[in-house]
Amino acid sequence: MEFRYLGTSDVKISAVSLGTWQFSDSWGVTDYKSAKFIVERAIELGINFFDTAAVYGKGMSERLLGRALKELGVREDVVIATKLPGEFLSRHDVFKGTKKCLERLGTEYIDLMQVHWPPLWNNFPTCGYMRALEELIHKGVIRYIGLSNFPVELIDSAWSCLSTEDLVSEQIRYNLVERDAEKEIIPYAEAYGLSVFTWSPLAKGALTGKYTPDNLPEFDDVRRGSALFHPDNMKQIYKVVSILKEIGERHEKAPAQVALNWLLMSSDNVIVIPGAKNPKQVEDNANASGWRMTLDEWLRLEEASSRVRVSRVVW
Ligand SMILES: NC(=O)c1ccc[n+]([C@@H]2O[C@H](COP(=O)([O-])OP(=O)(O)OC[C@H]3O[C@@H](n4cnc5c(N)ncnc54)[C@H](OP(=O)(O)O)[C@@H]3O)[C@@H](O)[C@H]2O)c1
Repeated sequence: MEFRYLGTSDVKISAVSLGTWQFSDSWGVTDYKSAKFIVERAIELGINFFDTAAVYGKGMSERLLGRALKELGVREDVVIATKLPGEFLSRHDVFKGTKKCLERLGTEYIDLMQVHWPPLWNNFPTCGYMRALEELIHKGVIRYIGLSNFPVELIDSAWSCLSTEDLVSEQIRYNLVERDAEKEIIPYAEAYGLSVFTWSPLAKGALTGKYTPDNLPEFDDVRRGSALFHPDNMKQIYKVVSILKEIGERHEKAPAQVALNWLLMSSDNVIVIPGAKNPKQVEDNANASGWRMTLDEWLRLEEASSRVRVSRVVW
């Protein structure tokens, strides 16, 4: 497993980590045993960073993850990252929301507390919630602060609210067919030393080769109605998947592994957090690390994927 630093801290994180939104009704891993097998396999493979959020399964993901890590006896060896939703950002709610995360995770401290998205309809002042998070570091309740889905202008102003602590990360959607993060977020992160946790690194499974424009499963999960799987978008995405398959064959890798490898090559600040529904997927994803495709192969994907326009105007 390759490791990268969390922001400018000395904490080392597996370049391929584990997203655990899958531990929820939205994705279907809802029983403790299945979740524990996934977490256990991840630990065996050297994964040490686990991403969850208060909203995933209304706390189910935090509960299942926290219990598994505790039973496996690895709490001190891993980095737990959770998130407070944009609605929980009044000063009081930052404290109350964090207390509930701690209870659900069954832990004394949270390694990385992220703001899941900026406040939308509630006009919580930026420095109000950032300062409250900083106070939680001072109290030893959280260790680091990260943001998620924040544009650079707002990252800047949020960061300037901190007086004694640094921001360490931004979490953002980034995969081969949704590359907006490259325009502003990644250059900003590289310039200022932020880690970039890339969500939906497999485009919710669209890049794994399992789905084709003619084989769009009747999803009974969160992907029902997702623009990614609209036939017009899938036709374009599948051209990229064909190249992933070709490159994968040369390296004896699956398309998902090539897709994640491409992200790891895109910036040293990137850490991918694919979700997995079983131990085999964790294993496949972990093997996206520790090798590199050739520059020619990387370029082929760069060119083909830059022609994809995933449109959300699908009705
Ligand atoms: N900050 C945010 O706003 C935000 C938003 C979304 C997600 N996230 C985080 O990012 C994580 C990952 O993103 P995501 O869940 O949206 O999507 P993703 O990681 O792009 O895709 C995950 C799905 O792809 C399939 N898959 C995974 N590995 C595979 C493999 N090796 N081979 C074949 N299929 C495989 C599985 O579904 P099937 O087997 O059913 O196809 C899995 O549920 C989440 O768990 C969460 O922690 C954060």
